Amino acid sequence: MKAAPTTSVSQQSDVPIVTLDTALNTLRAGGIVAFPTETVYGLGADALNPAAIAKVFASKRRPATNPLIVHVHSSDAARALTTAWPTAAQQLAEALWPGPITLVLPKANHIPAVITAGGPTVAIRIPNHPLALELLRQLDRPLVGPSANPSGTISPTTAQHVLESFNDTLPILDGGPCAAGIESTVYDPINHRLLRPGLITADTIARITHTHPRPGAQSTVSASAPTSPLPSPGLLPRHYAPRTPALLVTTDTIPTLLAGTRRAIILATSPQRLPSPHTLIQMPPGPRDYAQRLYDALHQADHAAADLILIERPTSEGPDAELWLAILDRLTRATTPA
Ligand code: TXA
Ligand code: MG
Repeated sequence: MKAAPTTSVSQQSDVPIVTLDTALNTLRAGGIVAFPTETVYGLGADALNPAAIAKVFASKRRPATNPLIVHVHSSDAARALTTAWPTAAQQLAEALWPGPITLVLPKANHIPAVITAGGPTVAIRIPNHPLALELLRQLDRPLVGPSANPSGTISPTTAQHVLESFNDTLPILDGGPCAAGIESTVYDPINHRLLRPGLITADTIARITHTHPRPGAQSTVSASAPTSPLPSPGLLPRHYAPRTPALLVTTDTIPTLLAGTRRAIILATSPQRLPSPHTLIQMPPGPRDYAQRLYDALHQADHAAADLILIERPTSEGPDAELWLAILDRLTRATTPA
């Protein structure tokens, strides 16, 4: 039986919103289901079923060189997927799970090589969302969960985003809008490397583990298509991107850019007076609210049939600098250099 559509979902379409029971049955039968987490919606499949995982790669059109993260409901379940559990992993798991940090550790033998793109490590996290946790508990198997969007496009933070990205073809467990809004921090606690910035910052990791993370491998990734496993798929230079051309700009350049554009959508934290038909999506001033709103704003901007999306570059200074850096990382990948 289908649950009632949420208010964010069109009443007319036969929406593939499914119940927890249907999601469980689909996953047990080797199918794929989009599920909510606190960061973004994931595209779930049984992590121990290579045929199910193949469906995830195919429906996302994800290159086989990009490894998937695995979701579990307990630290014990996480440990069972690895051959090493360093003190830093224990400390971070205790302090931050369930939560938006993914730990990269040596993989146990029984993890299919397709998950890790043939690499020796596996990325694991416990998501902090009641419906995801219930799904994981009842399934009692690890679940792969890349973001539920076609590779390279804007990540989904509502069931509606998933519906739109997959043309209503995918069963979705609707858990409402994601509270955090950008993807988890990805951290390698053995080499102390921050592989993808997120709302759990290097300072937080340092406070918990007493070791300051070394920068990730971002600068070593080239713009050309990768042929070997990436240190992190989120490190692709263009990722999370709208179809409409998008620029990350400073406030003072906005008037000039508008003058040469028929219709632009502007995402800005500062107040803007815009001549019609340009429109503004007012972004919240704080980084946590900004992150929560970001992908929905990008989806909205991309649907507005504009010629250009201008994103006012948020400040990256002050006490919240690290949170803004995680956001700027997404904004940089969503835009073309101005
Ligand atoms: O917040 C999130 O992490 C979301 C939700 C659904 O949990 N998932 C997500 O998955 O963002 P995806 O596939 O879009 O990004 C997976 C990230 C990659 O950017 C990469 O950093 C990391 O997982 N990854 C996976 N396996 C890895 C590995 N063996 N070594 C290093 N990084 C890995
Ligand atoms: Mg993704």
